[in-house]
Amino acid sequence: MSATDQIEALKEEIKNYQAQTEEELEQYRMRFISRKSVFGELFANMKNIAPEDRKAYGQTINEVKNLAQDKFKSLIDALNQQKSDAEDLDVKDLTLPPIPESLGSIHPLTSTRKRIIEIFERIGFNLSDGPEIEDDWHNFTALNFPENHPAREMQDTFFIEKNPDIALRTHTSSIQVRVMENEKPPIRTLCPGRVFRNEAISARAHCMFNQVEGLYIDKNVSFADLKQTMLYFSKEYFGKNTKIRLRPSFFPFTEPSAELDISCFICDQKGCKICKHTGWVEIGGCGMVDPNVLSNCGIDPEEYTGFAFGMGIERIAMLKYRINDIRLFTENDIRFLRQFKSVNV
Ligand code: DAH
Repeated sequence: MSATDQIEALKEEIKNYQAQTEEELEQYRMRFISRKSVFGELFANMKNIAPEDRKAYGQTINEVKNLAQDKFKSLIDALNQQKSDAEDLDVKDLTLPPIPESLGSIHPLTSTRKRIIEIFERIGFNLSDGPEIEDDWHNFTALNFPENHPAREMQDTFFIEKNPDIALRTHTSSIQVRVMENEKPPIRTLCPGRVFRNEAISARAHCMFNQVEGLYIDKNVSFADLKQTMLYFSKEYFGKNTKIRLRPSFFPFTEPSAELDISCFICDQKGCKICKHTGWVEIGGCGMVDPNVLSNCGIDPEEYTGFAFGMGIERIAMLKYRINDIRLFTENDIRFLRQFKSVNV
């Protein structure tokens, strides 16, 4: 075999070499990398080469030597990769059942809010949002609160700035103002959100809680529509045998105003602690939007009428799941939250 053929054959051998095991890698090392490699022999052969060809011969061998070294590196990499793939696949027993992922649970306020929204969406209500930091106009003035109304006082409202007043919204009714200012009737919207009141925290009251506001404005909207909508919601949410009662009340932004009660589904109106033996539990406030509020928000009260309602999401969740302390919603006690694992949303 001529020297050139021998070198070509070596090149081929190097290119095609595969090392599946450490031994095969070692064999390669011995043959092409170690001090006793084939290259020693090839360099020793130099003396048999015609002097004028020796330079080219030497260069060729060096090229092949470099090729052999590069290949050695890639053989090592390939073998390492193979090893780590094998480790990944080193499952003890593929027939074992998987370890179940531990699933979290949906917060009861989230599932309650979602359920309320779902019920109203079915009768054409959309969703609206507004800021938690509000100005006096949207939280009070546009809603027809008289200048010296007690709800404006320091003890109820968390003020951020005075004159002009900027505060944490005390109710989601501020969102209905924003909707009326920005949209033209017909309006059918639901506004869920957090509200803040400067109240002492107890089992029944919190300084931060959630409300959902509803607003319906169109031509010829009547109190009967309000009543029917409240009945529909109450039956959907609390069960088809639920009855409702509207008790006359007062809110600056509605006229007439009412408190919405549902028949106590816990004792079936026989009398229990929850309904304080009255057979009825309050779930929110409602009424016909006061004409002053409509005109404050740029809607002609001669042309349009509407109703609004507001409910506390915590209150509804507490009734539904028989939770007796409002503080539990924000304590993040895992023992409380875990109890809602099976609640569907
Ligand atoms: N904003 C009232 C509150 O925070 C709840 C409410 C009552 C909202 C009557 C309404 C309504 O839209 O019509 O207590």
